[in-house]
Amino acid sequence: MRDLEELKQEVLSCAKCPLHQTRTHAVFGNGNPHAAILLIAEAPGFYEDKSGQVFQGKSGELLDKILAASGFNRNVHMYISNIVKCRPPKNRPPNETEKTACLPYLYQQIEIIDPKIIILMGATAVKGLIHPNAKITQIRGQWIDWRGRLALATYHPSALLRNPQLKRPGWEDFKRVVVKYRELINAEHHSDYC
Ligand code: URA
Ligand code: SF4
Repeated sequence: MRDLEELKQEVLSCAKCPLHQTRTHAVFGNGNPHAAILLIAEAPGFYEDKSGQVFQGKSGELLDKILAASGFNRNVHMYISNIVKCRPPKNRPPNETEKTACLPYLYQQIEIIDPKIIILMGATAVKGLIHPNAKITQIRGQWIDWRGRLALATYHPSALLRNPQLKRPGWEDFKRVVVKYRELINAEHHSDYC
């Protein structure tokens, strides 16, 4: 099996879909490659494209708050990546061509990182990994089997910022992750909120 660094180098110079023409940096992923949790979101945005790192903007701030309340740190307890590694212009959702070209990288990341728990954040992650017709509103908050791994869909932080009513169900989802983490990984895992 290839290692993560080798795969990252391939992604950083990838030209398999048109998004490579408009990107500043491809964003491979960040965090702890040995972590039990893999968090998958949509695509790099403006700040991620500039820096080459995941979740740098307002969504990143909110994500860090949610993680902190759950006793998680993005660099310790998880690895974070996206369905596509290059920023779609104007932050539109990635299209079918782009997703099809890029998904093999994510599949390889999953094999190498070998997470026990996968968190799918937002509709693009749900459709990309589960099924093109899968609806986040229908499957969020439930543990589902993804090729022998446990996956849980929840709202993307940008959806929580746009629609504060979603914050409560979003918190409930992270409580489920904490419970599962205690069950599978560390019974002593501490969270201030649950
Ligand atoms: N939104 C995403 O979906 N991914 C990032 O890395 C940042 C914002
Ligand atoms: Fe390659 Fe993915 Fe970037 Fe397209 S989005 S150029 S497939 S790394």
